[in-house]
Amino acid sequence: MPTAPWSRFQPERIDAAAQRIAGVVEKTPLVPFDCGDERVDLRLKLENRQVIGAFKARGAWNQVAQLTPTERRGGVVCTSSGNHGKALAWAAQKSGVRATIVMPKNAYANKIAACREFGAEVVLCESRMAAERECDKRVKDGATLVHPYDAERTLLGAGTVGLEIADEWPSVELVYVPVGGGGLVSGVSLALRHRLGLRVKVFGVEPKGAATLSRGIAEGKPVTLEITSCIQGLTPPYSGQLNIDVCKTTLDGILLVEDTAVLAAQKRLVAFGETVEPAGAASSSAVFEGLVPRELLAGRTRANPLRVVAIVSGGNPDPEQLERVRAEVASERTSSVPRGAGSMEPTPLPRSSDAPPARSTPNDARSGPGSRS
Ligand SMILES: Cc1ncc(COP(=O)(O)O)c(C=O)c1O
Repeated sequence: MPTAPWSRFQPERIDAAAQRIAGVVEKTPLVPFDCGDERVDLRLKLENRQVIGAFKARGAWNQVAQLTPTERRGGVVCTSSGNHGKALAWAAQKSGVRATIVMPKNAYANKIAACREFGAEVVLCESRMAAERECDKRVKDGATLVHPYDAERTLLGAGTVGLEIADEWPSVELVYVPVGGGGLVSGVSLALRHRLGLRVKVFGVEPKGAATLSRGIAEGKPVTLEITSCIQGLTPPYSGQLNIDVCKTTLDGILLVEDTAVLAAQKRLVAFGETVEPAGAASSSAVFEGLVPRELLAGRTRANPLRVVAIVSGGNPDPEQLERVRAEVASERTSSVPRGAGSMEPTPLPRSSDAPPARSTPNDARSGPGSRS
């Protein structure tokens, strides 16, 4: 029997990570969401309801729980625009380890405050790149780096989201995962291949203005880009080599979305009653924008819908931004007649005849070790 190309990443280690985080990190719900197209049975994996409000708790705990006594004494450090920093501060405090979180100074104030509330030292830098340099310095001084995405233990912890999806809904056919540096999408796609093989399609969803993983896959190595997207959490300057290598063997493609589509999706999820930050809505924006592979929709009906999951990855928005979104939702509701009509009504997906084909990653046409065809 030929071995699957992803087996070299030892996906069974995600099972071990799941055991390690059990009881500390939440198993989050998978809830149905009416996307307005009866051909699609969409369910949202609500990681916004996770401990610390984002999936990042999984990777952070999987990391901190495995520190050696020497590493524990030296403390942990990371660069983060928010959720990973908050998660690491939480995990470190919970296990009695010192944490330093190096953040760009434009990180949301609530995320900076949250890191401090969990007892971490927060160092603010001019930019994300300056933060990376400061972090390197701290590692040279003896702290252990807990990388937000380019690290095996982080990726394996994040992958437990994929195991939960596969175990709860083994007949799922299509999963959308938001992409920043690529830790979540590499972990989740590895977990889904591990449990379901090629029965499921897995797509990353990346902002057009921060296409670091798609570009990295195309070039086979990390590419530092000038970032123009404003979706915090999805805008690190490059994706990791490990993330690129895993995704080359596990992903069906990466879809690129505009910031405006992500913000519109956030509004729909907020109208649904969830507290979601923009990054957390990126994967559902792909569904709402009709970026569903045409061939998968062919022949689908209300009785036999396409089974789709979008991972809602985080729920720590800037409070002022959330208030503005809630006010818009409220005013659209009051101005709409009759019930629910108006711009908050779900937009139907394009019909299968005019739906675009899935935008492919450059690796779709590849052959060789990364190719699955
Ligand atoms: C809410 C949220 N979603 C998605 C991501 C992207 O995760 P990754 O960097 O692992 O791709 C992040 C990263 O910070 C995040 O905070």
